[in-house]
Amino acid sequence: MKTRKDYILSLDADRWLFHADMLVDKAHVVMLKERGIIKKQDVVKILNCLNKMDSDYFVDHALPSYEDVHTAIESVLIKGIGEEVGGKMHTGRSRNDKVATSIRLALRDELLGIIRNVNELRSVLLKKANENIDTVMPGYTHLQHAQPTILAHHFLAYTDAFARDFLRIMHAYELVNVSPLGAAAFASTGFQIDRERTAKLLGFDSVLENSMDAVSSRDFAIDVISCYANLMTNLSRLAEEIILWSSSEFNFVRVSVEYVTGSSIMPQKRNPDYAELIRARTGTVYGCLMSVLSICKALPYSYNRDLQEVTPHLLTATNISASSVSVMKSIVEKLELNKEEMAKQAQVGFTTATELADTIVRETGVSFRTAHKLVADLVNEGVALKANRGVSEVLNELDAFSTRAIGKKLSARGLTEKKVTDALNIASSIEKRNIKGGPAKRELRRMIRARKTNLEKDDKLVGSKGEKVRKSLDDLAKEVKRKARIINVMKR
Ligand code: ARG
Repeated sequence: MKTRKDYILSLDADRWLFHADMLVDKAHVVMLKERGIIKKQDVVKILNCLNKMDSDYFVDHALPSYEDVHTAIESVLIKGIGEEVGGKMHTGRSRNDKVATSIRLALRDELLGIIRNVNELRSVLLKKANENIDTVMPGYTHLQHAQPTILAHHFLAYTDAFARDFLRIMHAYELVNVSPLGAAAFASTGFQIDRERTAKLLGFDSVLENSMDAVSSRDFAIDVISCYANLMTNLSRLAEEIILWSSSEFNFVRVSVEYVTGSSIMPQKRNPDYAELIRARTGTVYGCLMSVLSICKALPYSYNRDLQEVTPHLLTATNISASSVSVMKSIVEKLELNKEEMAKQAQVGFTTATELADTIVRETGVSFRTAHKLVADLVNEGVALKANRGVSEVLNELDAFSTRAIGKKLSARGLTEKKVTDALNIASSIEKRNIKGGPAKRELRRMIRARKTNLEKDDKLVGSKGEKVRKSLDDLAKEVKRKARIINVMKR
């Protein structure tokens, strides 16, 4: 902090808001003209001056000298065309409704970008799933080998998590894309402005009606950051698995060279730093959520300068989420798989024990709990499985344990060597899990097809939202051009 005034600045957030703030100014001026609140000649001067200002040069040079972006634009406008004309732009408006509108506009664009990134990640995961319908791997609970599964099943699990992220963000988008403009400080205005018109020019879906609510609320920011928090949680879990899987202990995957770093001392290292940073920045996003909740908690209505402090957290969380999704997309896309090791590990740790218990239930009619106990005895006390002694020994041991436990041999109740062999076979154990949502091939194929169709539908939805916004902003630009040109015509 060089001067006292620096304390109230929020420069990075204001840089982010600048282009949105210019749009808000233009829409407001167009509307003021249409309502006959400011005169044609003044509108022409204002719009021409705004057009000239609308540049990165302004952001880098003029912006830092003012209290905030809104003051900067108005002050430079007044410097350019004088207060008598330039001073009319802020008629029927306050910085309070302006900033709320600009944040929503800027955020809306970011959300559309993030949603597109999420869909690309879904698409890459679906592609990987499709390529790995035959890739057997161990499935884990408690990070212990549990049951065998298929890599496609694992990738599809993440696809579905990200599909829910899509839904959440889309829902948040609806809450963001409403216009607070025209609420002024909080009590609206006595000027007969047209709030519907500015909302339409700016591509909002509707007007945020109550003028006090319009300037006071930042719940949309909380909603959006919670969406990010969920999204980042999902990303961090995938990141963590990639980190684990690329370790020598697992050796399931190799992260592509662009997404690993070396060590300054150990020449052999391939460290998965990108995935690690996704994992770490998830924490930063949670921090943003907690900060924004804390800032808004117990804040009296309507506007308080505290609300300015929300925007940087929103921006940080937005930047992290957007970049993390796209980094993850590339990591997954370029992931090299060690299918042999996955298949080998699927055999380790009696992963088909559950299927053996299930088979005993199906073939002999004993209860699942009894079958569970008998297989636990086989695994813990028996030697046949551990020593890989063949199916007849396995069945003999099972018979011994069942005689001890229930006084009957399982083989006498219909359990055959063939059934035991089948139960212990990884591929057939997986194929039996063919009910809705299971890892059997037919079901995997069906799930992939259904998710592809859904993704296409979701892509279309995002496309139409983006198109609607683009069209409105095109109309605004045309309107500005038309209204700014009048003086040139009159001058001639
Ligand atoms: N930069 C401020 C913000 O982000 C703009 C609003 C200032 N309004 C006020 N009444 N001081 O919230």
